[in-house]
This record gives sequence, structure tokens and C-alpha cells, in this order.
Amino acid sequence: MVTTVSAIREVPPQSRVDATPNDPSRQTVFNEPVLRLGNIQGAILPGFSKSHRVLLSLRVNRRTSSHLAGFKCWLKAQLPFIATAEEVLAFNKLFKATRFRRKREGTIKSTWMGLSLGFRLLCDLNREADQFTDEAFRAGLAKRSEMLGDPVEGPYRAEKWLVGGPANEADVLVVIESDEREDMLDELLRVEQSILQFNRAAGGALLEILFADEGANLPGTLSGHEHFNFLDGVSQPGIRGTLSADRTDVLTLRQNPGKRDLPEDPSQPPSATNKISPAQGKPGQDLLWPGEFVFGYPRQIPVEADDAEGLNPHPGPDSLTKRVGKGNAAPEWATDGSFLVYRRLRQDVGGFHRFLHDQAKALQVKDPANASAARLVGAKLVGRWPSGAPVPKTPNDENACLGDNDCRNNHFEFQGDTDLIHRRSGDENACVDDDANLQAKADVAGDRCPFSAHIRKTYPRDDDSASVPDLNEASTQTHRLLRRGLPYGPVSASTPDAPVFDDTDRGLQFLAYQTSIDDQFEFVIRNWVNNADFKVKDSGHDPILGQNGTKGEGRERFFTVTIPDPADNTKVTRTVLRTQADWVLPTGGGYFFTPSLSAIEKHLTVL
Ligand code: HEM
Repeated sequence: MVTTVSAIREVPPQSRVDATPNDPSRQTVFNEPVLRLGNIQGAILPGFSKSHRVLLSLRVNRRTSSHLAGFKCWLKAQLPFIATAEEVLAFNKLFKATRFRRKREGTIKSTWMGLSLGFRLLCDLNREADQFTDEAFRAGLAKRSEMLGDPVEGPYRAEKWLVGGPANEADVLVVIESDEREDMLDELLRVEQSILQFNRAAGGALLEILFADEGANLPGTLSGHEHFNFLDGVSQPGIRGTLSADRTDVLTLRQNPGKRDLPEDPSQPPSATNKISPAQGKPGQDLLWPGEFVFGYPRQIPVEADDAEGLNPHPGPDSLTKRVGKGNAAPEWATDGSFLVYRRLRQDVGGFHRFLHDQAKALQVKDPANASAARLVGAKLVGRWPSGAPVPKTPNDENACLGDNDCRNNHFEFQGDTDLIHRRSGDENACVDDDANLQAKADVAGDRCPFSAHIRKTYPRDDDSASVPDLNEASTQTHRLLRRGLPYGPVSASTPDAPVFDDTDRGLQFLAYQTSIDDQFEFVIRNWVNNADFKVKDSGHDPILGQNGTKGEGRERFFTVTIPDPADNTKVTRTVLRTQADWVLPTGGGYFFTPSLSAIEKHLTVL
């Protein structure tokens, strides 16, 4: 029997569609690296994107050399079950083709597994792990929790976490994802049985299951949304690189015809004077060198803003584009691997909705045509409407069609207007964004999208700032994350218009891949999200994630937002919202490294 599954909404970046070799969306002037897809775990690239997930946190107890030898055998036995990027990409292609032909989902399904290891265990498996210089990774999440602004007292302090606190830090994180819950549970059972067998052979509970964290795509119309009600996983970095030696076999199609790595004068080769307009995947999705997310590949160079907008180095040998910065040095076998940040974040949905509701009332915000006043306040705090429609494009009203359109919903910057993208013949895979009424306007003052909005805090795009001298588009591109979040816990009955409190544990399994936890995840949290003066003084904290101090009254947070003037909605009123409440609180997590398959085989399981 064929069941219809509510597949999680596809993430834009690596959704490769078929294209002929001379398709303009495959053109690149750069010598992009061939991605070793058979060696990279599929959880990193392209990401599993399944509706069901369980995160299994394991601890390796009593690490004598014979126990470690036993563990290495267990690890080696898992190798055939770890999904490669190649397999996941091939499945996704087939999935799309069958969905297109059969006009339904659920006829082909898959179950994937990924595996990551913590720093201390890695050092026990191979001493060269000590060559990792990323301080955050070396210390582990529990030790960095206070620095990230997490509470140091009360029920959400690291000591109370379900997993990942000082007393229950995990050494191994197994990620299992599937289209069907039953298939996911079958794979979980297989892993559990392998652990039982290992422990039996070792004569004790040497490999201990600390915690199994189950997540799932929300049902029905909430599919793809997180618990506060907003569509998630909309904006992801695009990634350069090819699937084979064929230079046109690109991982990410370049679907914005105006942004295709073309020199200003296409009849001449690119040079310092004949600069290149850097490519995007989907419009607004800047293409980054893969070394930002996978070790062993060229990285972004945070060059001056006037150098090809700083987004791309000039074509040249890899050495030109390799950036080994703070926190990025790693053993040779880290190649094709990535750091994984796991945060189990509990969400107080009723509390957040109550805040939106009360503020809308207090500020006498008028209901927009397609939404409510409370939802408008929510859109200003997140930077997107619940549908995913970006506030920079539609500051005063919800627009579900825009939210659902991956060619349009990310096509904006903050410092300039966007250009219309018209349909072009011979360029079938190019995106179209031709509605003049739904274009983003330059938002230098934060009138449309407040500086404190979650999306502007976590990815300020082309923002610069007089008070933050290092902020420019090129440097911002070195602080990006490949997010793989999925909700956990039951749907809340709450809405922004009718807030409902309950004490249910629900939230987000936040997962993100990168090659420097110091410079990427932690940088974003410490310098932008928690910094009320980013990007200008008194911008406020990120309303979703921002923390202010670690204890007591001092934790009050504020957000400077702009509300459309009811009499003339081309004007805005700027106002500061304050709260003592935290709507997102940590309940677990960890910092891990996700090795390549060859690293597991040749460097981490050698007896
Ligand atoms: C419960 C916690 C969280 C919730 C409810 C949440 C919600 C959202 C939503 C609704 C979006 C807009 C849709 C999208 O572009 O995907 C978003 C974007 C984003 N979030 Fe979060 N998020 C959470 C945690 C985090 C954490 C821990 C980080 C780490 C820094 C983070 C970083 C980002 C980034 C980088 C973006 C994309 C911004 C852009 O490219 O425009 N989020 N989040």
C-alpha cells in the first residue's frame, strides 16, 4: 500500500534539477573543486530533509585500550550504514522525478543514518585529533554554555540538561532520519541492538545510550514550520563545487540570471579590473566556497568590500582561496568532514504568542489585510511572516504565495533595491521574480526589517555599520551556517491571536554544520544575536535567541522594532519592546565532528 507522507519542505540550496550541459544555470568561470560525495556524509551535504528524526546521544565509558579497541570494531561495523552525500543526492533526484511523473509523494522512501564524534573520544581514537584548533569544539558545548548567554541558574542551566551537560556529555551522536516513523524506529532498533551486542561482548555497559531525542516535521498545514508558526529552513547558503570532473556538473544551479560569475566585460577574461558579478544559486542565495562547511576545500576570503563585492576571490589555484584562520586548523583526515552543533532548544509557544498579542494591543497595531496585528508584530521580530514571506519584500502584509516561492522568498538584500528578474527563453531553470510590487527596497535604517529581527541578526547579508568596522558582505559570508533543524514535541494549540499556555516540552532540534564553531555558530551568537548594539547602538537583542547576561533581573531583553503607521503605511513608528521572558531555552546538545567515511575507516578505527 502506498501511503502519502507529509514530506518536509525542500530546502533550496542543493535541490538540483535536471539540466542540459549548456544550460546557463550550470555556467561557472571558476575552477570549482570536485566534491568527494562518496566520502562526505549525506547529513552534511545535501542534508537528509526527512519528516522523522531521532538523535541518539551515546557515551563511551571506561576507556581502557581494550575497550577502545572494542568500540573501534563497533564503529567500523556502522560504516556501511552511514549515508553518503552521493546516495542522498541520487535518492533526491529520483524522488523528484517520481513525484513529478506520478503527481504524488510517498512512492519511494529512504532511511538515512549519520554519525558524529566528540573531541575527547576523537583524541582517544587518534591522537592527531589534538591538531583541531577550534577552541569551542575542544571545550565542548557545556563549557561554552555560559559564554553563549545560557542561564547559569534555574531549570535550564547546563547541569540540568537532558544531555550534553557537564555530567552527561555525549561522545557520539547518531542521526537517523526517515520518511516514515516506523522505518526510523527500525533503524534505531538496529543501532540499539548493535550496542547491546557490543556491551555483551565487552562485559559491561561500555557504550551507554544517554538520550534519544525524537523530532518530526509538524503535521498538516504546519509542515515545514517551527513551533512558533514560522516556515523554517527557507534561507540556506548555496555551495560551489561540482559533482564530477565536468565543470558544468555543478552542485547548486545558478538560477539568478543576473548573478552568474560573469565578468563585467564578458569578452575579456576576469581580472582585478574586469570584475566578476558573483553567482547566486536561487536569487538572494550567495554561492559560498565549500570549505566553509566541509574541511579540505577552498574557503571564503573576507576580502575588501570593493573586490568583486568580496564574495568571490579571483579565479586561481586553490591556495588563493584556502583560508586557515582561527579555529580552522585540523588533522589531514578531517578532509571531507564537518563540525556539527546540536542545540536542543525548548520553545515557550504560549509565552511568545502572548507577547505578540499584548504588544499588538498596547501599540494599537492595525490588522493588516491578510493577517492579524499580532502576526505583524511577530513578522517584525523574525523578519519573515509565518508563510516565509520576507518582511523586506512585504513589510506590511502577509503573502503566502511569496512565502512559498523559493525563487522569490529569499531575493533581497538590506542595502539596496532588488532587480526584477524576467523570464528568458533558453534559460528554463532560471528563476523569475517579476512582480514590481513585491520587490525589496533598500532598508538602510531598518524601517522594513528591524536590525533586531532574527533573520537580520543571524545573517545581516550586505549590511555594513559605522560602529562595527569589520561588518561587510565579505566578512559576513565567513559566518554562515548549514542549518538542519527539525521540531520536537507535539503541536501547540496556541496562535498569536489566541495564546494558549501549557507546560509541554516542545521545541527545535537545532543542528548546524560548519568548519569553525568559533567563527561561525558561536560568532553569530556572541557578536550579533546577544549584542544589543549590533548593528547600531540600541538595536536590541535577537527576540528569538538573544540572551542578556546569564542571571537575574539583568536578563531583561529589548528589541527595537518598526510598526507601520496606521494612517500612512509608507511611514513607520519606531518603538522599543522589552521583556524578562525567554521563549527559547536550552535543554541539551553538544559539539561534534562528522568525519568522512574514509577517516572512520583508515584513521579512527585502526587497531
Ligand atoms: C527555537 C529556536 C529557533 C527558531 C524558532 C528559529 C526560527 C527561524 C526562522 C523562522 C527563520 C526564517 C526562515 C529561514 O530562513 O529558515 C530562521 C532563520 C535563521 N535562523 Fe533561526 N531559529 C531558531 C534557532 C536558531 C539558532 C540557534 C541559530 C544559530 C545561530 C539560528 C540561525 C538562523 C539563521 C542563520 C537563519 C537564516 C537567516 C537568513 O539566511 O536569512 N536560528 N530561524
